[in-house]
Amino acid sequence: MDGKRVATLTLDDGRSIELPIMSGTIGPDVIDIHELSKLGVFTYDPAFFSTASCTSEITYIDGDAGLLYYRGYPIEQLAKHSDFLEVCYLLLNGELPDAAQKAEFGAKVASHTMVHDQMARFFTGFRRDAHPMAVMVGVVGALSAFYHDSLDITNPQHREISALRLLAKVPTIAAMAHKYHTGFPFMYPKNKFSYVENFMYMMFATPAEDYVPNPVLVRALERIFILHADHEQNASTSTVRLAGSSGANPFACIASGIAALWGPAHGGANEAALKMLEEIGDVSRVKDYVQGVKDKKYRLMGFGHRVYKNMDTRASVMRETCHEVLQELGLANDRLFKLAMELEQIALSDPYFIERKLYPNVDFYSGIVLRALGIPTNMFTVIFAVGRTIGWISQWNEMIADKGQKIGRPRQLYLGAKRRDYPVREPR
Ligand code: ACO
Repeated sequence: MDGKRVATLTLDDGRSIELPIMSGTIGPDVIDIHELSKLGVFTYDPAFFSTASCTSEITYIDGDAGLLYYRGYPIEQLAKHSDFLEVCYLLLNGELPDAAQKAEFGAKVASHTMVHDQMARFFTGFRRDAHPMAVMVGVVGALSAFYHDSLDITNPQHREISALRLLAKVPTIAAMAHKYHTGFPFMYPKNKFSYVENFMYMMFATPAEDYVPNPVLVRALERIFILHADHEQNASTSTVRLAGSSGANPFACIASGIAALWGPAHGGANEAALKMLEEIGDVSRVKDYVQGVKDKKYRLMGFGHRVYKNMDTRASVMRETCHEVLQELGLANDRLFKLAMELEQIALSDPYFIERKLYPNVDFYSGIVLRALGIPTNMFTVIFAVGRTIGWISQWNEMIADKGQKIGRPRQLYLGAKRRDYPVREPR
């Protein structure tokens, strides 16, 4: 280990091992423990508080400083100057595209926006009142039954086609889930629109009316997608990586990510945050509600984050977008928005939240924006899934392209019964 930095671990029986210390380009050092099993012991780290599960070159977060970079670019700069498809290209390929690459990428994505027509029949198997996330888990997983001509994951061209298909078709499926739920006819994609305009068209247009996208609202949704596009090894991305580590096809892996995203502690938080605001109902009830949080009767949804222990940068951008959208729509005096501002003020000045470093996260504001855009609450997590799809694909692709990649297989600390014999009973 000459010249290399090591950490020495000594067990209580005197055995010891030198563990290499690895440094990233930025961020804390990590101790490489993978040789530890040679001593016949494992580390115990439930919920991965102190464990890096992989190396990655895609996204960097410093939760204490509130920083988020995609491929080195600060999220607030991307949210201000870039657009969603450019961010997709960046995440997938590592560099920003030039004008020609951007146009080519946009054209390729546009050429995949329709889904196999038979997929429409798939929807009728679901109850109309099914949650759109339930439909998403099923239908995105089913893409592997329709597009099995590109499932050789060892072939980079196949991986590229699958990536484009997922990026292009997930919004179409999301809009179809919404239309099916509400009983309106499906709208085929229109490729004259940008990626985000097209999604809004499929969500809100009907065959009976013309649809003209409002640029302020398109920009707001564009920002929501950019802010949610990737977030390194969160629960859903880790799920995608773990599912993919067995060699499962990308459509099945992304469906597993959608399932993991659905929970209220993760992507379900924007829906839960808006429901919470509806439940509080009026500014006069905020103080009592906060007291209930402090008494641990319930959590303040849209607050707190496993990694951010400072204001989430994405939340600051979304807060600004929230003002822009409400202004554009003449909703500056919106009841729920006022209530949210009051709740934010009280929580940010209360020692309970300050001591625990609980700040509003991106989902606290994105729910208000989505509601103002006319997106129903049950579609909020679906919107998150549409934005995150590119992050999942990029992380999956990075993992599969790594020649040393192995199946993910955590160990455990077994606390169950010791060996015991089955009690054979005499027949009566
Ligand atoms: N409201 C009230 N108290 C909270 C909240 C909250 N939202 N979040 C954490 N706490 C408290 C806990 O009760 C605990 O207090 P204690 O020390 O007195 O027991 C302390 O803060 C630490 O909480 P943990 O659960 O250990 O924190 P963890 O990092 O595991 O949780 C999580 C992170 C799951 C996001 C949590 O903050 C939460 O449940 N938030 C609400 C749901 C939410 O908004 N999720 C969105 C995450 S962002 C995203 O997915 C894009």
